[in-house]
Amino acid sequence: MKISVIGCGYLGAVHAAAMASLGHEVTGVDVDTAKVQALTSGRPPFFEPGLSELLVKAQERGKLEFTTDVSRAADATVHFVCVGTPQKPGEFAADVTYVDAAVDSLHPHLTETSVVVGKSTVPVGTAERLSGIIADTGAAMMWNPEFLREGHAVEDTLHPNRLVYGVADGEPGKAAAATLDEVYASILAEDTPRMITDFATAELVKTAANSFLATKISFINAMAELCEASGADVTQLADAIGMDDRIGRKFLNAGLGFGGGCLPKDIRAFMARAGELGADQAVAFLKEIDSINMRRRVRMVDIARDALGGSFIGKKITILGAAFKPDSDDVRDSPALAVARLIATQGGLVTVTDPQAIGNAQKSFPELDYVADTAEAITGAQAVLLLTEWREYRDLDPAATAELVRGKVLVDGRNVLTPELWRAAGWTYRALGRP
Ligand code: UDX
Repeated sequence: MKISVIGCGYLGAVHAAAMASLGHEVTGVDVDTAKVQALTSGRPPFFEPGLSELLVKAQERGKLEFTTDVSRAADATVHFVCVGTPQKPGEFAADVTYVDAAVDSLHPHLTETSVVVGKSTVPVGTAERLSGIIADTGAAMMWNPEFLREGHAVEDTLHPNRLVYGVADGEPGKAAAATLDEVYASILAEDTPRMITDFATAELVKTAANSFLATKISFINAMAELCEASGADVTQLADAIGMDDRIGRKFLNAGLGFGGGCLPKDIRAFMARAGELGADQAVAFLKEIDSINMRRRVRMVDIARDALGGSFIGKKITILGAAFKPDSDDVRDSPALAVARLIATQGGLVTVTDPQAIGNAQKSFPELDYVADTAEAITGAQAVLLLTEWREYRDLDPAATAELVRGKVLVDGRNVLTPELWRAAGWTYRALGRP
């Protein structure tokens, strides 16, 4: 089938490559010439395991092209809208202007056989509104939220744990769903659960799922605060409550909390939209989820300063990790960088290292000092803070690391190291939510 993907950022680039790998003829459209050029040459403008290989293979087979010219997508049957919906500056609400612009650019090319499939995370009510805008063309509107995780995006797109279709009532909705079934035929053949519902429910599935995940993380981080106050160990607490399969152990890793381009902005946009709908009380608790999350960053700084005898001034502090999570070069709302900046403002001489995200971090916060090599970054440090749990940091050897530093203070912001091993090598080991 001929497919277009409008917006070739994180979601769109992966979706375009994945759809081409299923055998479809895909045109990826983006307004950013540099992005289009990078994707055309098989070098995605961000780090995502497996994506480059997928891009190169699809382009060699002539199944995938990237362009800035939306008219090249005119003969596609299905148009996926994959543009970003960032938080509006100074507000909680999501900015949907890119979604509106994408649909406007498609409008002249739509016919009654076209299906426009929204994948972006949007405020509930958006699909209904957009379906009114394209109604004159006879094209169908659908909403098919994306649940991919950065670092696992290719796998999550090709082997999702569920597909959700939001469709219009009656025959037009059924016909649109049948078209999307054709696009996803090989995914559905793997017995992937597929649920067909209305627009509003499909939109809410995404925001509700991300709110639940954020709530789970902040719940365990709230318990970490109690563990700190009482001398208990949050990692053992999480293991024990997680054994109840009604609770489950996943997303109960206490530490520096969540960041990235999705969870923080999605819960805020959800609160803003609920307010517009007069249902703000229903999600008022998300404000607390956000606050618990932000408090962890301050607590992290307090623990590190305390471990250094009460002051950062003039001391070299090495921060392991800049990305908001491992296997990603994304620094949007990165908890690690937030801590780095706080320590710098308190007089610490901060050095940040990361296997992939230094370039992006430098662009966002040029005032910090960045070193690519881990050993070089650690050399001469008075404290080492592990803030993004990349494999290579989890595997650091306590004795060998001790040789490099001036002060053996280690703060484990992700609860991934074994305290006994570090203490046995002479380190002062501190963590969030552990004695
Ligand atoms: C998330 C959702 O998982 C995904 O389904 C949705 O489509 C987009 O948002 P992503 O932002 O890529 O995906 O990252 P995720 O792996 O969910 O982690 C989010 C944040 O939570 C990270 O900062 C991570 O470090 C943190 N986290 C996660 C914890 O602090 N503790 C945990 O137990 C799990």
